[in-house]
Amino acid sequence: MNMMPTESGKVFDPKLHLPRMAQILEVTAMTAREKYFRIALPQPLGHRPGQFVMLSRLGIGEAPISISCGPRNDNILELVIRKAGRLTRVLHRLKPGQSVGIRGPFGSGFDLSAFEGQDVVCIVGGLGLAPLRSLIQPLLAQPQRFGRITLISGCRTPAEELYRDELHSWERMHRESGRVTVIRLVDKTDNLPWNGQVGLVTAPIADLALNPERTLVALCGPPVMYKFVIMELMARNIPASRIYVDLERRMRCGVGRCGHCQINHAYCCQEGPVFRFDRVGHLQEALQ
Ligand SMILES: Cc1cc2nc3c(=O)[nH]c(=O)nc-3n(C[C@H](O)[C@H](O)[C@H](O)COP(=O)(O)OP(=O)(O)OC[C@H]3O[C@@H](n4cnc5c(N)ncnc54)[C@H](O)[C@@H]3O)c2cc1C
Ligand code: FES
Repeated sequence: MNMMPTESGKVFDPKLHLPRMAQILEVTAMTAREKYFRIALPQPLGHRPGQFVMLSRLGIGEAPISISCGPRNDNILELVIRKAGRLTRVLHRLKPGQSVGIRGPFGSGFDLSAFEGQDVVCIVGGLGLAPLRSLIQPLLAQPQRFGRITLISGCRTPAEELYRDELHSWERMHRESGRVTVIRLVDKTDNLPWNGQVGLVTAPIADLALNPERTLVALCGPPVMYKFVIMELMARNIPASRIYVDLERRMRCGVGRCGHCQINHAYCCQEGPVFRFDRVGHLQEALQ
């Protein structure tokens, strides 16, 4: 596609602004509020872990949605969508065969080369597992390239747990090598069957076997989680430069033009949503 200069002199790249039509292949209810979508794009997306797409339905609207699968060579995209408002209510009613618009991939994402030879701890709350799955999948797939993986995954009740079968299978597949540890927690069991722990995602951090010099940590969850998790990590001597935070802000354009997503001077849609904590920790608006 050609790049066209706009009136302001800025370059207009149609690829960034115009949605590509994509076909839904599968929609599965994961919880009462979240659905899993498998979508076929016209071409492979070519994304990095931690990036997002702008997802639209013609005549309804558009919203940023995290890519929930690791980088792949085919044209398949996986998303988890929580019913929150007008657009996501409509998306939840769509069936296989219907289409959505996709722009992107956008955002910085994770640079996998920084994770080479490192032990990785992923700490997620609720829907935060959806984006971090895009990091966990490639880490699991290449044991020779990456070190040990620990996932601490928390949600409010057993009924709200995402990717439950997959969490079990990650643990099972790697049990013999001891390479993968999955710690599942709920705030409360709600009298439902539960074979994980009860408590907050901060609780297991004190007991993790961590080498601060070869451990990277990735966090994604509700804003309230970050401050307390980071305090626990710092108590374990993990430096801010080894912590990645996934910070979501309201977005419009997704391409650094509208200013809706700013965290102080940083444009979350371009420099984030994944930030190294030492680069944003000092910003007043970062952990709000
Ligand atoms: C980088 C990024 C990645 C995201 N990934 C996902 C994802 O993987 N799955 C998913 O379900 N949602 C994700 N979201 C959130 C999603 O974009 C919003 O919920 C979106 O507004 C839904 O559109 P809607 O029209 O259905 O709801 P709206 O009518 O736009 O909003 C519904 C409610 O959510 C509030 N809201 C909207 N956006 C945000 C926000 N960024 N932070 C806090 N509150 C907000 C609104 O104020 C309103 O109360 C992501 C957001 C960002 C910025
Ligand atoms: S969403 Fe428009 S500048 Fe980031």
